[in-house]
Amino acid sequence: MRITTTVNGEPREVDDVWEGESLLYVLRERMGMPGSKNACEQGECGSCTVMLDGLPVCACLVAAGQAEGREVVTVEGLADGSGDERALHPVQSAFVDAGAVQCGFCTPGLVVAAADLLRRTPHPSDPEIREALAGNLCRCTGYGKILDAVRLAAQRCDGRASDAAEAAR
Ligand code: FES
Ligand code: FES
Repeated sequence: MRITTTVNGEPREVDDVWEGESLLYVLRERMGMPGSKNACEQGECGSCTVMLDGLPVCACLVAAGQAEGREVVTVEGLADGSGDERALHPVQSAFVDAGAVQCGFCTPGLVVAAADLLRRTPHPSDPEIREALAGNLCRCTGYGKILDAVRLAAQRCDGRASDAAEAAR
């Protein structure tokens, strides 16, 4: 079957998709977007987290056909600036600055989930951060630096909003 969807703002069309294929498979293997990772393929780890019509989902559990006509945002779509690598999303730069970047499996999902949290809740409490990231598992470390990174991103987003309000006066 043919799937027509929007990924990171770009209309995409993929042919010959088998009914059993996941959105994750289509993103990675058919669209050449390897940012969303396949670690468990069972909805347990969150490494495949993407936004589907503004809601975070495990792309490994979403049938590709469910993305028909809908908007998908992957970790590749978070950075701003058309190729300018310095224009990272605030969550991405905070992960770098706080030393929260871990392996390539867990980090993309954590970044997408954290960005979704700050979009919904600009000033999250620690329990809110923990709850938002509860579906994103790292098998290797504690989550201290990750919490630091989300707090830092929230502060920076807050600062930007204040600066914009000041400039508008
Ligand atoms: S790969 Fe989808 S939740 Fe683990
Ligand atoms: S799973 Fe990525 S560092 Fe632990």
